[in-house]
Amino acid sequence: MEIKKVGVVGCGIMGAGIAETCAKAGYPVIVSEVNQQLLDKGMATINNSLSKAVDRGKITDADKATTLGNIKTTTNMEDFKDCDLVIEAIIEKLDLKKKIFADLDRICPAQAILATNTSCLSVIEMAAATKRLDKVMGLHFFNPVPVMKLLELVKTISTSDETLSAARVFGQAIGKVVIVAPDAPGFIVNRLLCSLQAEAVRMVETGIATKEDLDQGAVLGLNHPMGPLSLLDLVGIDTALEVMNYMYDELKEPKFAPPVLIKKMVAAGQYGRKSGKGFYDYKK
Ligand code: 3HC
Repeated sequence: MEIKKVGVVGCGIMGAGIAETCAKAGYPVIVSEVNQQLLDKGMATINNSLSKAVDRGKITDADKATTLGNIKTTTNMEDFKDCDLVIEAIIEKLDLKKKIFADLDRICPAQAILATNTSCLSVIEMAAATKRLDKVMGLHFFNPVPVMKLLELVKTISTSDETLSAARVFGQAIGKVVIVAPDAPGFIVNRLLCSLQAEAVRMVETGIATKEDLDQGAVLGLNHPMGPLSLLDLVGIDTALEVMNYMYDELKEPKFAPPVLIKKMVAAGQYGRKSGKGFYDYKK
């Protein structure tokens, strides 16, 4: 099936990036949030990112205007009724996601593909909230979405080959390189990343390395674009804790157990860049 119109549920860091990327590729996009204030915040994120892309010579002012013109906003999920693909990008709470999928199943056309951007949760459990298990899959983007090249296509035991190939065509049309991942905790990339990040935090927590040395070691010794602690600040310490908790619960492997320091930081509201403080200070 051909994807002509895209819906995005949630306009936080990931939802905004997904909406921007699809709109920049020429798709009409409708993005929803629970209230106008969050929609305004999300659209400001998109506007800033597009301005950055103009400043870096990636797109022109005219491209920016066309991209913004391709995006409509709503606080009413009923407005997804003519979408061919809807990508859910809300917080990592399975019960909330299941409710969204049940609503989308009622609202969207019978042939529409329903996808989740979850970083680790079970996609088949979301699919089971619908009556179209063959048309539900994961589309896992990476932060910052407009910059990161990869898109993981997550295939459940019920996703049809037709759905997967439509998603593959879509992923390439929005400029991503796609890989196919199984519906297993953390898929491919977050399974790798989660153990690296947990180990990095444990090394700092137990005094083996300072956070600066650890990050610099990964940047200069492994050619990572940023160290694992800086990356935790970018992704969000709260999101990382949810991912680690889930991975540990599901896989029962100690390497995925969330370090105590991560729990303390979340309790203190130190979520990383989005709260102004994480492993590093962003208030300046
Ligand atoms: N739109 C389009 N292009 C942009 C852009 C934007 N808004 N902002 C930057 N760019 C481009 C720049 O033009 C530049 O392109 P070039 O290399 O061709 O010149 C490139 O992106 C890098 O931009 P900058 O020079 O501004 O920034 P840095 O070099 O400091 O890189 C970074 C920033 C891309 C964030 C880099 O540090 C990086 O790749 N970090 C690692 C990110 C990562 O690992 N993300 C995955 C996280 S895990 C995840 O998301 C999974 C989830 O489930 C939790």
